[in-house]
Amino acid sequence: MSSQPKPLKTTLATLQKVKSRGEKFACLTAYDACFASILSEAGVEIILIGDSLGMVLQGHDSTLPVTMKDMIYHTKCVKRGNKGSLLMADLPFMSYASETQTLKNSAALMRAGANIMKLEGGAWIANTTRLLTERGIPVCAHMGLTPQSVNRIGGFHVQGRDTSQAKLIIDEAHMLQDSGASILLLECVPRHLAKSITESLEIPVIGIGAGPDTTGQIMVLHDVLGISTITPKFVENFLIKSKRGIPGAIEDYVRAVKSISFPADEHCFD
Ligand code: KIV
Repeated sequence: MSSQPKPLKTTLATLQKVKSRGEKFACLTAYDACFASILSEAGVEIILIGDSLGMVLQGHDSTLPVTMKDMIYHTKCVKRGNKGSLLMADLPFMSYASETQTLKNSAALMRAGANIMKLEGGAWIANTTRLLTERGIPVCAHMGLTPQSVNRIGGFHVQGRDTSQAKLIIDEAHMLQDSGASILLLECVPRHLAKSITESLEIPVIGIGAGPDTTGQIMVLHDVLGISTITPKFVENFLIKSKRGIPGAIEDYVRAVKSISFPADEHCFD
Protein backbone atom coordinates (compact mmCIF):
# COMPACT_ATOMS: atom_id res chain seq x y z
CA MET A 1 0.00 0.00 0.00
CA SER A 2 1.36 3.46 -0.94
CA SER A 3 2.11 5.89 1.90
CA GLN A 4 1.47 8.85 -0.44
CA PRO A 5 -1.53 11.02 0.56
CA LYS A 6 -4.25 11.02 -2.11
CA PRO A 7 -5.14 14.29 -3.91
CA LEU A 8 -8.28 15.87 -2.46
CA LYS A 9 -11.23 17.76 -3.83
CA THR A 10 -11.82 20.13 -0.96
CA THR A 11 -14.93 22.25 -0.42
CA LEU A 12 -16.12 24.34 2.53
CA ALA A 13 -18.34 21.37 3.51
CA THR A 14 -15.22 19.15 3.67
CA LEU A 15 -13.60 21.57 6.13
CA GLN A 16 -16.73 21.78 8.27
CA LYS A 17 -16.75 17.94 8.44
CA VAL A 18 -13.09 17.92 9.49
CA LYS A 19 -14.01 20.29 12.33
CA SER A 20 -17.03 18.25 13.41
CA ARG A 21 -14.88 15.08 13.56
CA GLY A 22 -12.34 16.91 15.77
CA GLU A 23 -9.64 16.46 13.10
CA LYS A 24 -7.18 18.96 11.54
CA PHE A 25 -6.57 20.28 8.03
CA ALA A 26 -3.44 21.71 6.40
CA CYS A 27 -3.08 24.94 4.40
CA LEU A 28 -0.09 26.56 2.68
CA THR A 29 0.50 29.52 0.42
CA ALA A 30 1.45 29.05 -3.25
CA TYR A 31 1.86 31.55 -6.04
CA ASP A 32 2.46 29.43 -9.15
CA ALA A 33 1.24 26.33 -10.99
CA CYS A 34 4.23 24.11 -10.16
CA PHE A 35 3.95 24.49 -6.38
CA ALA A 36 0.13 24.39 -6.51
CA SER A 37 0.38 20.96 -8.11
CA ILE A 38 2.90 19.70 -5.49
CA LEU A 39 0.76 21.03 -2.61
CA SER A 40 -2.53 19.59 -3.79
CA GLU A 41 -0.90 16.20 -4.60
CA ALA A 42 0.49 16.20 -1.02
CA GLY A 43 -3.00 16.61 0.46
CA VAL A 44 -2.99 20.32 1.38
CA GLU A 45 -6.67 21.20 1.80
CA ILE A 46 -6.41 24.98 1.24
CA ILE A 47 -3.92 26.77 -0.99
CA LEU A 48 -3.75 30.49 -0.19
CA ILE A 49 -2.67 32.86 -2.92
CA GLY A 50 -1.46 35.22 -0.21
CA ASP A 51 -0.47 38.85 -0.51
CA SER A 52 2.67 37.61 1.30
CA LEU A 53 3.86 37.31 -2.31
CA GLY A 54 4.78 40.98 -1.96
CA MET A 55 7.43 39.99 0.61
CA VAL A 56 8.56 36.49 -0.47
CA LEU A 57 8.41 36.92 -4.28
CA GLN A 58 8.71 40.67 -4.86
CA GLY A 59 11.13 41.54 -2.03
CA HIS A 60 9.04 44.29 -0.41
CA ASP A 61 9.17 44.83 3.36
CA SER A 62 5.37 44.61 3.70
CA THR A 63 2.31 43.38 1.77
CA LEU A 64 1.09 46.91 1.02
CA PRO A 65 2.56 47.28 -2.51
CA VAL A 66 0.68 44.19 -3.82
CA THR A 67 -1.90 45.09 -6.48
CA MET A 68 -5.05 43.45 -7.84
CA LYS A 69 -3.13 42.83 -11.08
CA ASP A 70 -0.52 40.81 -9.11
CA MET A 71 -3.22 38.84 -7.27
CA ILE A 72 -5.14 38.00 -10.45
CA TYR A 73 -1.96 36.88 -12.24
CA HIS A 74 -0.86 34.55 -9.40
CA THR A 75 -4.39 33.20 -8.81
CA LYS A 76 -4.58 32.20 -12.49
CA CYS A 77 -1.17 30.47 -12.22
CA VAL A 78 -2.18 28.53 -9.09
CA LYS A 79 -5.53 27.55 -10.63
CA ARG A 80 -3.72 25.89 -13.56
CA GLY A 81 -1.62 23.66 -11.29
CA ASN A 82 -4.24 22.88 -8.64
CA LYS A 83 -5.46 19.27 -8.41
CA GLY A 84 -8.33 19.70 -5.96
CA SER A 85 -7.37 21.97 -3.08
CA LEU A 86 -9.70 24.85 -2.12
CA LEU A 87 -8.21 28.07 -3.52
CA MET A 88 -8.30 31.07 -1.19
CA ALA A 89 -7.16 34.47 -2.51
CA ASP A 90 -6.23 37.58 -0.54
CA LEU A 91 -7.99 40.82 -1.35
CA PRO A 92 -4.90 43.07 -1.25
CA PHE A 93 -4.43 46.34 0.66
CA MET A 94 -7.10 48.95 -0.16
CA SER A 95 -8.93 46.69 -2.64
CA TYR A 96 -12.01 46.35 -0.35
CA ALA A 97 -12.26 49.90 1.03
CA SER A 98 -15.64 50.55 -0.65
CA GLU A 99 -18.57 48.32 -1.65
CA THR A 100 -17.99 48.95 -5.36
CA GLN A 101 -14.28 48.06 -5.12
CA THR A 102 -15.02 44.97 -3.02
CA LEU A 103 -17.52 43.55 -5.50
CA LYS A 104 -15.45 44.35 -8.60
CA ASN A 105 -12.19 43.00 -7.14
CA SER A 106 -13.73 39.86 -5.60
CA ALA A 107 -15.45 39.05 -8.90
CA ALA A 108 -12.12 39.38 -10.69
CA LEU A 109 -10.38 36.97 -8.27
CA MET A 110 -13.26 34.47 -8.41
CA ARG A 111 -13.11 34.58 -12.24
CA ALA A 112 -9.34 33.99 -12.00
CA GLY A 113 -10.03 30.74 -10.11
CA ALA A 114 -10.42 31.53 -6.40
CA ASN A 115 -13.09 29.71 -4.35
CA ILE A 116 -13.04 32.04 -1.31
CA MET A 117 -11.81 35.58 -0.52
CA LYS A 118 -9.64 36.42 2.50
CA LEU A 119 -10.06 39.88 4.06
CA GLU A 120 -8.13 41.35 6.98
CA GLY A 121 -9.93 43.20 9.78
CA GLY A 122 -12.39 43.04 12.66
CA ALA A 123 -15.77 44.72 13.08
CA TRP A 124 -15.18 47.01 10.12
CA ILE A 125 -15.26 44.08 7.64
CA ALA A 126 -18.60 42.74 8.97
CA ASN A 127 -20.69 44.59 6.35
CA THR A 128 -18.22 43.62 3.61
CA THR A 129 -18.44 39.98 4.71
CA ARG A 130 -22.24 40.10 4.51
CA LEU A 131 -22.13 41.86 1.13
CA LEU A 132 -19.95 39.11 -0.37
CA THR A 133 -21.58 36.07 1.22
CA GLU A 134 -25.08 37.23 0.22
CA ARG A 135 -23.79 37.33 -3.38
CA GLY A 136 -22.34 33.80 -3.29
CA ILE A 137 -18.72 34.66 -2.49
CA PRO A 138 -17.46 32.91 0.66
CA VAL A 139 -15.26 34.87 3.06
CA CYS A 140 -12.34 33.99 5.35
CA ALA A 141 -11.90 36.75 7.95
CA HIS A 142 -8.24 37.28 8.94
CA MET A 143 -7.81 38.59 12.52
CA GLY A 144 -5.08 38.97 15.16
CA LEU A 145 -1.94 40.25 13.44
CA THR A 146 -3.24 41.76 10.19
CA PRO A 147 -0.15 42.60 8.07
CA GLN A 148 -2.01 45.14 5.89
CA SER A 149 -2.35 47.27 9.09
CA VAL A 150 1.36 47.07 9.96
CA ASN A 151 1.65 50.87 10.05
CA ARG A 152 -1.21 51.23 12.53
CA ILE A 153 -0.02 48.28 14.66
CA GLY A 154 3.61 49.51 14.57
CA GLY A 155 5.24 46.21 13.55
CA PHE A 156 4.60 42.47 13.20
CA HIS A 157 3.72 41.84 16.87
CA VAL A 158 1.65 39.22 18.73
CA GLN A 159 -1.93 40.48 19.23
CA GLY A 160 -4.46 39.81 22.02
CA ARG A 161 -2.06 39.49 24.94
CA ASP A 162 -3.93 41.88 27.24
CA THR A 163 -7.42 41.09 28.47
CA SER A 164 -9.24 43.95 26.76
CA GLN A 165 -7.59 43.27 23.38
CA ALA A 166 -8.35 39.53 23.73
CA LYS A 167 -12.02 40.29 24.53
CA LEU A 168 -12.26 42.54 21.47
CA ILE A 169 -10.85 39.77 19.22
CA ILE A 170 -13.34 37.24 20.66
CA ASP A 171 -16.31 39.62 20.21
CA GLU A 172 -15.29 40.54 16.66
CA ALA A 173 -14.73 36.88 15.71
CA HIS A 174 -18.33 36.13 16.72
CA MET A 175 -19.56 39.22 14.85
CA LEU A 176 -17.80 38.03 11.66
CA GLN A 177 -19.21 34.51 12.00
CA ASP A 178 -22.68 36.05 12.42
CA SER A 179 -22.06 38.19 9.32
CA GLY A 180 -21.54 35.04 7.26
CA ALA A 181 -17.78 34.34 7.34
CA SER A 182 -17.12 30.67 6.46
CA ILE A 183 -13.63 30.54 7.99
CA LEU A 184 -11.69 32.60 10.53
CA LEU A 185 -7.89 32.92 10.29
CA LEU A 186 -5.98 33.92 13.43
CA GLU A 187 -2.40 35.14 13.05
CA CYS A 188 0.05 35.53 15.96
CA VAL A 189 -2.20 35.34 18.99
CA PRO A 190 -1.62 33.51 22.32
CA ARG A 191 -2.49 29.81 22.06
CA HIS A 192 -5.09 29.97 24.89
CA LEU A 193 -6.96 32.74 23.01
CA ALA A 194 -6.95 30.76 19.74
CA LYS A 195 -8.15 27.67 21.63
CA SER A 196 -11.09 29.43 23.24
CA ILE A 197 -12.14 31.14 19.97
CA THR A 198 -11.90 27.82 18.06
CA GLU A 199 -14.01 26.05 20.67
CA SER A 200 -16.67 28.78 20.79
CA LEU A 201 -17.16 29.25 17.02
CA GLU A 202 -19.11 26.97 14.70
CA ILE A 203 -16.90 27.76 11.69
CA PRO A 204 -13.39 26.28 11.26
CA VAL A 205 -10.48 28.41 12.51
CA ILE A 206 -7.08 28.40 10.77
CA GLY A 207 -4.04 29.42 12.79
CA ILE A 208 -0.55 30.73 12.07
CA GLY A 209 1.48 31.40 15.19
CA ALA A 210 -1.72 30.61 17.14
CA GLY A 211 -0.89 27.22 18.68
CA PRO A 212 -2.06 23.65 17.99
CA ASP A 213 -5.76 23.94 18.91
CA THR A 214 -7.17 25.63 15.79
CA THR A 215 -8.98 23.44 13.23
CA GLY A 216 -6.38 24.11 10.52
CA GLN A 217 -2.82 25.39 10.27
CA ILE A 218 -1.38 27.66 7.61
CA MET A 219 2.21 28.60 6.78
CA VAL A 220 3.94 30.63 4.10
CA LEU A 221 5.49 28.15 1.63
CA HIS A 222 8.91 29.83 1.70
CA ASP A 223 9.01 29.50 5.52
CA VAL A 224 8.28 25.75 5.40
CA LEU A 225 11.08 25.35 2.83
CA GLY A 226 13.51 27.48 4.87
CA ILE A 227 14.11 30.04 2.10
CA SER A 228 12.62 33.15 3.75
CA THR A 229 14.89 35.98 4.82
CA ILE A 230 13.39 36.05 8.33
CA THR A 231 12.38 33.09 10.54
CA PRO A 232 9.64 33.89 13.05
CA LYS A 233 9.28 31.73 16.19
CA PHE A 234 6.27 29.86 14.79
CA VAL A 235 8.12 28.61 11.68
CA GLU A 236 9.50 25.09 11.14
CA ASN A 237 11.82 24.21 8.23
CA PHE A 238 10.29 20.95 6.94
CA LEU A 239 12.72 20.68 4.02
CA ILE A 240 15.70 20.20 6.34
CA LYS A 241 13.75 17.85 8.62
CA SER A 242 12.32 15.67 5.87
CA LYS A 243 15.42 14.96 3.71
CA ARG A 244 12.96 13.81 0.97
CA GLY A 245 13.02 16.86 -1.29
CA ILE A 246 10.25 19.42 -1.67
CA PRO A 247 7.26 17.05 -2.25
CA GLY A 248 8.37 14.96 0.76
CA ALA A 249 8.72 18.07 2.93
CA ILE A 250 5.18 19.18 2.03
CA GLU A 251 3.79 15.70 2.79
CA ASP A 252 5.59 15.77 6.15
CA TYR A 253 4.06 19.19 6.92
CA VAL A 254 0.57 17.83 6.14
CA ARG A 255 1.19 14.77 8.33
CA ALA A 256 2.57 16.90 11.18
CA VAL A 257 -0.50 19.16 11.13
CA LYS A 258 -2.94 16.25 11.06
CA SER A 259 -1.17 14.37 13.85
CA ILE A 260 -0.87 17.63 15.88
CA SER A 261 2.90 17.25 16.16
CA PHE A 262 3.13 20.71 14.54
CA PRO A 263 2.94 23.34 15.96
CA ALA A 264 4.88 22.26 19.05
CA ASP A 265 5.32 24.23 22.29
CA GLU A 266 8.35 26.10 20.95
CA HIS A 267 6.25 27.54 18.09
CA CYS A 268 3.54 28.98 20.39
CA PHE A 269 2.98 32.38 22.02
CA ASP A 270 1.61 32.65 25.60
O1 KIV B 1 -0.59 36.44 2.80
C1 KIV B 1 -0.37 35.44 3.49
O2 KIV B 1 0.47 34.58 3.18
C2 KIV B 1 -1.15 35.27 4.71
C3 KIV B 1 -0.69 34.20 5.66
C4 KIV B 1 0.38 34.74 6.52
C5 KIV B 1 -1.82 33.66 6.45
O3 KIV B 1 -2.07 35.98 4.95
